[in-house]
Amino acid sequence: PMTNNKTKYILALDLGTTGNRAIIFNHEGAMVGQAYKELTQYYPQPGWLEHDALEIWQDTLSVLGQVLEKTRIAGKDIVAIGLTVQRETCLLWDKTTGKPLHKAIVWQDRRTSPMCSQLREMGKVEEIEGRTGLVLDPYFSATKLAWLMDWVKENKPDTNFDNVIAGTVDTWMLWNLTGRKVHATDHSNASRTMLMNLDTRNWDESLLDLFNIPAHIMPEIKPSMGMFGHTDADLLGVEIPITAIFGDQQAALFAHGCSRPGLLKCTYGTGAFLIVQAGHEVMRSPNGLLSTVAWTQDKSTNYALEGAIFTAGASIQWLRDGIKLINSAAETEAICHQVADTNGVYFVPALSGLGAPHWDMSARGLYIGITGGVQREHMVRAVLEAIAYQVKEVVDAMNKDSDLSVARLKVDGGASQNNFLMQFQADALGVPIERPVVLDATAQGAAFGAGLTVGYWDNYDDLIARRQIDRVFEPGKNSSAVQENFLTWTRAVERAKHWIE
Ligand code: G3P
Repeated sequence: PMTNNKTKYILALDLGTTGNRAIIFNHEGAMVGQAYKELTQYYPQPGWLEHDALEIWQDTLSVLGQVLEKTRIAGKDIVAIGLTVQRETCLLWDKTTGKPLHKAIVWQDRRTSPMCSQLREMGKVEEIEGRTGLVLDPYFSATKLAWLMDWVKENKPDTNFDNVIAGTVDTWMLWNLTGRKVHATDHSNASRTMLMNLDTRNWDESLLDLFNIPAHIMPEIKPSMGMFGHTDADLLGVEIPITAIFGDQQAALFAHGCSRPGLLKCTYGTGAFLIVQAGHEVMRSPNGLLSTVAWTQDKSTNYALEGAIFTAGASIQWLRDGIKLINSAAETEAICHQVADTNGVYFVPALSGLGAPHWDMSARGLYIGITGGVQREHMVRAVLEAIAYQVKEVVDAMNKDSDLSVARLKVDGGASQNNFLMQFQADALGVPIERPVVLDATAQGAAFGAGLTVGYWDNYDDLIARRQIDRVFEPGKNSSAVQENFLTWTRAVERAKHWIE
């Protein structure tokens, strides 16, 4: 069968926070074409962020069409589709009309902070963390879905809830791609809703009760790698099987080959997400990390520990678009090299509060240590250094939490292109940083999962072995100085906490 695979392909849909992408991979595991469309961000109030789910669906159709047209590949030559999405973002829709009842609430949205405080006062923290592996925070879907249910009851009182269904972005997309036939999700996405029990890997009835979510609106949870359904024949002229669904961060973990306990990846995007493979048992964290599902296949489950940092690349974007200290993200590499250090300046990127390992919704961003000699280059460098320091905090927590000692960090995402940042990261961690040639690990992971499921590829390890490394950054002579500065930076972090009361 391998010979005719040369003219067959796998398609990955990567539906992220800032845009939607379709990428086609060939049998070598290489990208042969892609199409991308930026997604509208709606900020109805400070701290709120919404997406139009219909726009996500229409843009997905359009990038799908574009990539097939560009590559001149026919739908019949796509053997399977893998789907990977921004996690936690969720919505309600009417299954008879296909229309969302409200815009989707995005993972970064903080509108349910009061609900989280209330649950904290009710003494629910331990129960929620115990059942889901997650920290009580507005980040996850449960409070967002509860907010949406309340909103619908209040603003659309005639709604017949028998017709309402819920889902994260993967579920919405699967339902639409299958011609409204399949209402399902996978374990990796479900593990981020704060409604899935991490031990049983089913919806947790007592949490559904607590958040007032009727069980019948929830999708069926299925293995990440397996048959989810087929695309409707009207979409691409043929029915294509959808055979993998992953949360985007878990997909990147899969693409990096992090299948053995202790293997760690970091994706530097809007935020930075570190995930370490934990193996087949749930691993709990006393140090502010999340226990989550990495992926599932048949009856087998891989778990992971995750450190979610909300602001990473977003602070470079802020330097460019907010305070306009730079013209492009790319020039920060040269600017950082123009000075030997930050001249005593430290930056805390708590632009939307602090995630792992602090989980402080009321922290806000901070520059400290400014004296008369401080120049633009120092301010810019302080932001880049802070990204690396945040990652170090999470890696330290991971080392504390487990006997998995982290020996290497595999990276991907936009900011991993920055050589200054990567060298500084290696110095801060004291371990080598490994950067692959293909930085779209997310889409690659979804494609690998889909192709392995249908037997297009037959060996995961071979696929991983074929990936090329662009560069390895070894810890250098500055390592001990950087680690000392890190300790000073942690004092700045304490000052940024509990700002909004
Ligand atoms: O948990 C949020 C994460 O999945 C978002 O990733 O790449 O869409 O910003 P991204």
